[in-house]
Amino acid sequence: MSTGRQAPSGPGPQPRPAGHTPDPYAAGHLAEPYRIKVVEPVRTTTREQRRALLEAAGYNLFLLRSEDVAIDLLTDSGTGAMSDRQWAGLMVGDEAYAGSRSFYALKAAVEDLFGMPHVIPTHQGRAAENVLFTTLVRPGQTVPNNMHFDTTRAHVQHKGGRPLDLVCPEGRRAMGDYPFKGNVDVEALEALLAREGPEGVPLVMVTVTSNTNGGQPVSLANLTAVSECCRRHGVPLFIDACRFAENAWFIREREPGQQGRPVRDVVRDMFALADGCTMSAKKDGLANIGGFLAMRDPELYRQAVAWAVLFEGFPTYGGLAGRDLEAIARGLYEAASEDYLAHRVGQVRYLGERLRSAGVPIVEPVGGHAVYLDAGRFLPHLPPERFPGQALAVELYLEAGVRGVEVGTVLAGRDPETGEHARPPMELVRLAVPRRVYTRAHLDAVADAVLAVFARRDGVRGMKFTYEPPVLRHFTAGFDWA
Ligand code: F0G
Repeated sequence: MSTGRQAPSGPGPQPRPAGHTPDPYAAGHLAEPYRIKVVEPVRTTTREQRRALLEAAGYNLFLLRSEDVAIDLLTDSGTGAMSDRQWAGLMVGDEAYAGSRSFYALKAAVEDLFGMPHVIPTHQGRAAENVLFTTLVRPGQTVPNNMHFDTTRAHVQHKGGRPLDLVCPEGRRAMGDYPFKGNVDVEALEALLAREGPEGVPLVMVTVTSNTNGGQPVSLANLTAVSECCRRHGVPLFIDACRFAENAWFIREREPGQQGRPVRDVVRDMFALADGCTMSAKKDGLANIGGFLAMRDPELYRQAVAWAVLFEGFPTYGGLAGRDLEAIARGLYEAASEDYLAHRVGQVRYLGERLRSAGVPIVEPVGGHAVYLDAGRFLPHLPPERFPGQALAVELYLEAGVRGVEVGTVLAGRDPETGEHARPPMELVRLAVPRRVYTRAHLDAVADAVLAVFARRDGVRGMKFTYEPPVLRHFTAGFDWA
């Protein structure tokens, strides 16, 4: 009989047999699937200290020192905890300029998991976007995506391209339990490709999971339809793979015919439909830095490598230390393991469920990496120009030292034509959960803080700018209560 023990060596934790994926969060048993071997103390602060710290930071949570934050949910990017196997990998990292053993470890992992033979490491995800779009995108061309992440959009525009979001209609609404709100509107894609062809559309991208509308997954059926559409029109399909494992988990959980399949098989099937991918290893690479660009076509690889050398460095290190490559190679396998994912996605759902069951308005269903508070409905007395998302994020920090991030009018900036605030579809606060960092007790503390602010929501005041920078205003703006 199998003991289910994992071998001490090999590429990483092996998947358990299909079917063996207890969902500890659904069952009410909430043990984290790891033991804590190293701890990082968290400083506690009083409400009065937090009030002073907020004032000194101009009520901009980006300008707080992280040591003044009790529970940091600003992002799930680069903030995860590495495993003992990854830390051990740092010691065997090969720092050779060319031909590093650690590059070959990464290449083997990407080929094994994704089936992509050509891999270019990059210093993070946006660098992979830069290399790919510099190779493929020409001024005036359109790049469709289910929903572009900010950096992807900016890199398309930097090449003179036109980013186009073609997410399905369900994906544009905060309410409703549609299971795959990251899906592409395939009819709209078909119409675009029929109209503009490969001359007008150099590539199609699909972001898994879709970060911009709440970490929402894309189904295998939808990816298959997108892939067939791309092939019919001779346009390459690239996956923005940052959260590939979380997406595969949702397919395994929610898609008819996919239930209980090993995650690595689902991952294989997803990537078999694509010609390449960009990756930020700061998410499902379980590393603190790094990324890569991977593809099938050797000719495209040859062209991309030329730009990679210019932007990132020799293609066997790509802006990273050998030890980082080793950590990513190991992290990719760990992210694709069922025990890890059941807990990871369950943890985010647990936080969402605690809030939803108490009547707190959130984006539904809860996505893979974050809970999004709907600040517009949370604080209906505040109009967009009083920044309800910013006010709510500030109150959460004041309440319990929890740091989230506004995703609303402040982030959206101004319309360049009219000079007015742009009107984002929703006023949100993102609570992104770092991987393997916080326990259930931390999430309970977050939920308690949100509920405490919810109980006194009528008294929450709006905010105004004291300083508004001309570009990317959310990072450095100053605020005060209105
Ligand atoms: N694509 C998606 C879907 C992302 O979420 C991110 C980063 C990137 C690309 C860029 O990767 O940061 O390694 O250059 N998202 C982070 C976040 C920053 O907080 O959601 P990067």
